[in-house]
Amino acid sequence: MANVAVIGSQWGDEGKGKIVDWLSERADVVVRFQGGHNAGHTLVIGNKTYKLSLLPSGVVRGKLSVIGNGVVVDPWALLKEIEILRGQGVAVTPDVLAVAENAALILPLHSKLDLLREEARGAGKIGTTGRGIGPAYEDKAARRAIRLCDLLDPDALDGKVQNLLQHHNALLRGLGAEEVNAAELLAQLRGVAPKVAPFVKTVWQLLDAARKRSDRILFEGAQGSMLDVDHGTYPFVTSSNTVAGQAATGSGIGVGAVGYVLGITKAYTTRVGSGPFPSELHDQIGQTLGERGHEFGTVTGRKRRCGWFDAALVRQSAKVGGINGIALTKLDVLDGFEELKICIGYDINGQHFDYLPSAAHLQAAAKPVYETVEGWSESTRGARSWAQLPATAIKYIRRIEELIEVPVALLSTSPERDDTILVTDPFTD
Ligand code: GDP
Ligand code: IMO
Ligand code: MG
Repeated sequence: MANVAVIGSQWGDEGKGKIVDWLSERADVVVRFQGGHNAGHTLVIGNKTYKLSLLPSGVVRGKLSVIGNGVVVDPWALLKEIEILRGQGVAVTPDVLAVAENAALILPLHSKLDLLREEARGAGKIGTTGRGIGPAYEDKAARRAIRLCDLLDPDALDGKVQNLLQHHNALLRGLGAEEVNAAELLAQLRGVAPKVAPFVKTVWQLLDAARKRSDRILFEGAQGSMLDVDHGTYPFVTSSNTVAGQAATGSGIGVGAVGYVLGITKAYTTRVGSGPFPSELHDQIGQTLGERGHEFGTVTGRKRRCGWFDAALVRQSAKVGGINGIALTKLDVLDGFEELKICIGYDINGQHFDYLPSAAHLQAAAKPVYETVEGWSESTRGARSWAQLPATAIKYIRRIEELIEVPVALLSTSPERDDTILVTDPFTD
């Protein structure tokens, strides 16, 4: 029985939350393996909308929900999200939610540093979510992070805080910012520790037990391949690996357990924050896509940049991330366009590329090479079967499959959970 990893194949916000929620009906365990509360995953179920940042989307169906070691965890944000969900009638108890003891924490000093750095960058800013993601991963790699297990070891915590602040206060002094008081931070950590403690588990053991029971595991990625710290549009990326390979290391399970890789792919392209975006539209069409697709960030409320579907980019994501099939989302947003464009490669300083090269100056110079296809006037919104789709919409989908060299496994035609067409079941394929 296969497990499934859901990852974004563009710049995030492809509709991962909706698809994970839909698939989690068939799963037993849902695992987040990277990122943090920079993610914003939206689930629409009947007249209720759930916005999840840190909690795996399976929690809404009461599935065992796991936050793996690859995630950076802001304990205050975690508790707040649990409260919000409880307010919406979702039971988030230690029976349902497990957070890896070896996950690194995001502290208030991380978000402060994130914002200070962005301010210092001025026009060259990355456009981060300001949640402290980058600085928290830096501390993890530098081996000075405070991890969840440290919260449960009050005697050692003091020394860890001192060690961390030795670095951070020097940095803050350099930036001309106020230093962090060790006693205050320690008190904050001691205050939050007993509240998160019931959720802290040895996740690798829990996943091993799930495998022994032949449970179906669904790995829920955040962000997207083009925001991956290695494979994305560096430096305009997030600070974690977002590709499916990370599902294993970010949760403590063997690579063989990851299974089918489902790339969530928007039928056009969006990006929030700075960085190259060859098929971006600065005209009325881009405006229309944003309005129809409600393209505003779930976390920061920022307007998302919009553009045509970039097949070269998604093909690259598919190769790099080992995507077996895609879930094509938001097809309905393209309803009513007379013609559609698909980016099939780039002109970079007069040279043709069928992929986006790594060098930032080449990415910045990339001009899209388009092919034009026929649009459709009929509505696809809410379609629940292939037969309900206009022939030209099917043609558009087929052309995308051809260009990205990956088949469509799922199709989404509205935000609503059940407006989803299954072509191939990722769990049994
Ligand atoms: P995620 O970060 O990948 O989970 O995506 P977000 O939740 O940030 O953004 C996707 C948005 O598109 C959400 O508001 C979803 O409710 C919405 N959405 C998902 N699938 C569809 C779809 O097929 N059609 C339309 N119109 N909206 C969708
Ligand atoms: P989901 O999971 C879209 C972007 C930010 C910024 C860059 C770095 O909802 O798809 P960070 O705060 O991570 O250091 O910001 O990454 N970004 C996202 N864009 N969707 C996301 O998550 C994102 N998470 C981070 O806008 O450009
Ligand atoms: Mg999102």
